[in-house]
Amino acid sequence: MSNPNNAVLKIDGKEIMLPIVTGTHGEMGLDISNLRNSTGLVTVDPSFMNTAACYSKITYIDGEKGILSYRGIPIQELVKKARFVETAYLLLHGKLPSRDQGSKFSQLLTRHSLLHEDMRHFFDNFPRGAHPMAIMSTMINALSTFYPNVDLLSLKEDIDTSATRLISIFRTMAAFAYKRSIGEPVVYPCPDLPYCANFLNMMFSSPVTQYELREETVRILNVLLILHADHEQNCSTTAVRTIGSAQVNLYASISAGISALSGPLHGGANQAVIDMLKKIEKDANIKKYIDRAKDKNNSFRLMGFGHRVYKTYDPRAAIIKKECHKFLRSTKISSPLLNVALELEKVALNDEYFIERKLYPNVDFYSGIIYSAIGIPENMFTVMFGLARLPGWIAHWKEMIGTQTKIARPRQIYVGKHVKEFSSR
Ligand code: CMC
Repeated sequence: MSNPNNAVLKIDGKEIMLPIVTGTHGEMGLDISNLRNSTGLVTVDPSFMNTAACYSKITYIDGEKGILSYRGIPIQELVKKARFVETAYLLLHGKLPSRDQGSKFSQLLTRHSLLHEDMRHFFDNFPRGAHPMAIMSTMINALSTFYPNVDLLSLKEDIDTSATRLISIFRTMAAFAYKRSIGEPVVYPCPDLPYCANFLNMMFSSPVTQYELREETVRILNVLLILHADHEQNCSTTAVRTIGSAQVNLYASISAGISALSGPLHGGANQAVIDMLKKIEKDANIKKYIDRAKDKNNSFRLMGFGHRVYKTYDPRAAIIKKECHKFLRSTKISSPLLNVALELEKVALNDEYFIERKLYPNVDFYSGIIYSAIGIPENMFTVMFGLARLPGWIAHWKEMIGTQTKIARPRQIYVGKHVKEFSSR
């Protein structure tokens, strides 16, 4: 008898029941976890185009409607009412902090903001011009040598210590890496400053100039970090969950996430967008770039466009675009690249190629224009993405170790040579 909760697979004259599972918002999936046991068959899905790798309670995306929420709260609400640190707490704990919990979390962030002094010297040995994302992933991995016992057991007891250490030290390291790249002495974290203001101070103060902290700059940084804080099973989060499933130290798992994020198809796109906009501005020829993006014989893509999940305007991009206008107006900063981006978006969104494929601006399209206006150099853009994504990665790591008892280990279909006898010729 047919059961609405099962799908039936007919194979070799046998009927196999596959349970249909349903998520909070009615999204459905086929549970094939017993398929191989009952039939000997595996499923094939390169690049996980069609695979839900886990059940998760952290972030919800409706890619058709352009909805994104963290722990049930829409990002639009969080951007209006929360700061990044509260959002981090929300992702990690599933609820917004009470006043007391919030102040304890902030105290931990302050307590853990210092980098071990021995690590400061590590920065001296990277080649000049090394990309800060490569430096960050190495440095975060190196944390596992200072804190070797941060594993599933320790985190079950105390996620806040390890999480705040990561979120706080990453910020300090990022600012140190920048200072080193411009040959200036590092600025230590200041215990009186909140998270975002502290980062801006470490980046832009120097022994000879006191950085003027402006409210609108601190606010826009909070907005950007909130919007990047999680995005369910993207490439870097999947890397963190997969590597973490081998019961690897948390810092080593996060380091893998940073490496995944650095790629131009993922977080590295925010830097690539600005490179592209600059070239377009110089050439003063948008059509040329649109044509190149459409040309199947050309590997060029419109950076900051398209998304695996969103088949409509990325809700993060919509907020960032609006905030970008607001920020530039209030700070009286002019950005010729914003005009190039607006024009490029207009042309692409009216072009059949982009319409047919449902390609819209994504989170990376406008973010770099704001980062540039703040004064953050282009090679640090993806580091900013990583800084923001830490709470998401850690929340997924925590969820994974709490629910997934088995190591992640996909199968394959072998299509290589048959067994042959060894022959030296
Ligand atoms: N420019 C031109 N064509 C594109 C683009 C683009 N940016 N994105 C997708 N397409 C085309 C693609 O060529 C393909 O065409 P066809 O069906 O004729 O072969 C079709 O659209 C579907 O693309 P896909 O590569 O199969 O889609 P995907 O889900 O595998 O890739 C993506 C998603 C984000 C990697 C891709 O859209 C892309 O490369 N975008 C540019 C890089 C970028 O902005 N990345 C940031 C993503 S959002 C933040 C993050 O995840 O970190």
